[in-house]
Amino acid sequence: MKREFIITEDGSVTIHLPEMQESYHSKFGAIQEANHVFIHNGLNLIQGQPISVLEIGFGTGLNAFITYCEGVKSGQIIDYTGVEAYPVTIDEITHLNYPLLLETPNGQQAFEAMHNAEWETKTPVSNIFSLTKRKQFFQDINDVNRYNLIYFDAFGYQFQPDLWSVDIFKRMYAALKNDGILVTYACRTIIKKAMIEAGFSVEKIPGPPGKREMLRAFKS
Ligand SMILES: C[S@@+](CC[C@H](N)C(=O)[O-])C[C@H]1O[C@@H](n2cnc3c(N)ncnc32)[C@H](O)[C@@H]1O
Repeated sequence: MKREFIITEDGSVTIHLPEMQESYHSKFGAIQEANHVFIHNGLNLIQGQPISVLEIGFGTGLNAFITYCEGVKSGQIIDYTGVEAYPVTIDEITHLNYPLLLETPNGQQAFEAMHNAEWETKTPVSNIFSLTKRKQFFQDINDVNRYNLIYFDAFGYQFQPDLWSVDIFKRMYAALKNDGILVTYACRTIIKKAMIEAGFSVEKIPGPPGKREMLRAFKS
């Protein structure tokens, strides 16, 4: 599928799929959205301990990189797994301006290390951040009791409703440890219901600019 690069309102680049009319991030600001949904409402809730994160849709690597930047600030040990069936190419990565905007020491080097990392291999990006990229369909995820936090960042329900199903959320529930948390930018009632049916307790909380609400789900 054809991929184009667009600049979102906070100056950060994202990928747009013209045939689907869908983007990898909010047009109001890719970095702003990632910060609000995944860092502020996800990572920040689990501090003072090592954390394992599962990302549904590694895509441009923005969420992984922004999590890496948070780790540089906090010193938290982060074991990060990104699942992705359609990786971006090395050429496409050169269009992404996240290291420039996020200004973390050795950021460019770390971002490139993430994209150059071998698939299916746990790669140390720094002494506290390790990355495992898995080339896999979300429908095939079978992890059990492995993660503290899931960033659920699939394309919108209107484009891929199957990825917001009870079956997928059961897989997410199984993948989380007890007290694990799943965060997503989405807020549709049908999604909330699917999460509840899979076993989660779910809350609607304020969304990033341009989006009134988002969902956060807890495994207890
Ligand atoms: C919204 S984008 C993810 C954005 C990403 N988190 C980032 O920071 O750039 C959704 C991602 O899911 C991937 N994808 C779509 N369908 C998939 C599937 N069935 N299994 C695995 N990956 C899929 C797409 O290739 C895309 O990278």
